[in-house]
Amino acid sequence: MALEFSERIRRIPVYPAAESYGDGRDLVRLASNESPYPPLPAVRDAIAGALDGLNRYPDPTSTALRRRLSERYGVPQSQIAIGNGSCDILLAASEALLEPGAEIVYAWPSFSVYPHLSAASGATAVTVPLDDEERHDLPAMLREITVATRLVIVCNPNNPTSTAVPLSAIASFLDEVPDYVWVFIDEAYCEFNVLDDPEASIELLTRHPNIALLRTFSKVYGLCGLRVGFALCGSQALVRALDQVRQPFFCNALAQAAATEALSHQDAVEDRVTRTIAERISVDERLRALGLAPADSQANFCWFSLPDDVEEADVVRGLAERGVLVRAGSALGKDGALRVTYGTSEENIRFLDALAEALAAARSSLA
Ligand SMILES: Cc1ncc(COP(=O)(O)O)c(C=O)c1O
Repeated sequence: MALEFSERIRRIPVYPAAESYGDGRDLVRLASNESPYPPLPAVRDAIAGALDGLNRYPDPTSTALRRRLSERYGVPQSQIAIGNGSCDILLAASEALLEPGAEIVYAWPSFSVYPHLSAASGATAVTVPLDDEERHDLPAMLREITVATRLVIVCNPNNPTSTAVPLSAIASFLDEVPDYVWVFIDEAYCEFNVLDDPEASIELLTRHPNIALLRTFSKVYGLCGLRVGFALCGSQALVRALDQVRQPFFCNALAQAAATEALSHQDAVEDRVTRTIAERISVDERLRALGLAPADSQANFCWFSLPDDVEEADVVRGLAERGVLVRAGSALGKDGALRVTYGTSEENIRFLDALAEALAAARSSLA
């Protein structure tokens, strides 16, 4: 008899991770929306300082980190959930909130982990197409909410399309969402969004006990290698439920130490945001000069459709052959598009030069 797996293993999509991690070549890695900047020296020191305590389990409640987050955002510690990356919080939400018969509503294309939540829990996924400018269509999402809806996710700015909706639109949306529905606003990239102050959404928590703002140390803080994220929640009950479904000690000691220290260096973080936004302006300008039309990025990555006369796979391969790794739209919900993280200016120049060559090569291979 063949060895069996659970039925949900057949349903759960395999996360489309970027390739070539182990490759020793001098690669420009623009496929995973990481920070091109290494952890700050003080953060490295904090990690080193935590090494001697690794014979002990980490603080199961991440007290120091939650205290610092509470001071920074003015949200009570009891309303802050920590995760082994913010993905961990999303997966915990699927266990804590979803079950067969329940519905989860989210836009599509959006973050590739969301389909996992319904598949793992047996809930029904209701996906809502983005609007013509590849933004969340919040009125259309509202129309999909039924008595069975348990969770709605709004990814703002949206991965993979890089676009954002203004906070005022989200606030009006929340006013209309019935209070039995949980709403997660995934703000993994909010620091790069110039439409609104990243702190402004915090105020929503005082009016909506049914919401969570999902944030991460993986992007602007450059700590994705350690895996740590958090949710600022409108209610303690949500934090308790999220913690209940997870293994003990889910956030490791080095991640806790690094994230706690990182919060004390906001000037350096803002400097990195400024540099990324400057790169965003110049990369998008050069993309337009190549005849492409990048979406209005409010994130640390761009998103654009490829011309009709080239194949996506040829361009992605052409870039990889030139040492530049990007994500193909087909892996993220839209054929014939690319998602490319903004890197350092040197990396971006390599990307843009390689793109011009890869487009020309892809055209001549089809001619
Ligand atoms: C929209 C969005 N949310 C959440 C995450 C997860 O981040 P992490 O688990 O590294 O905190 C990502 C990572 O790419 C993302 O794009």
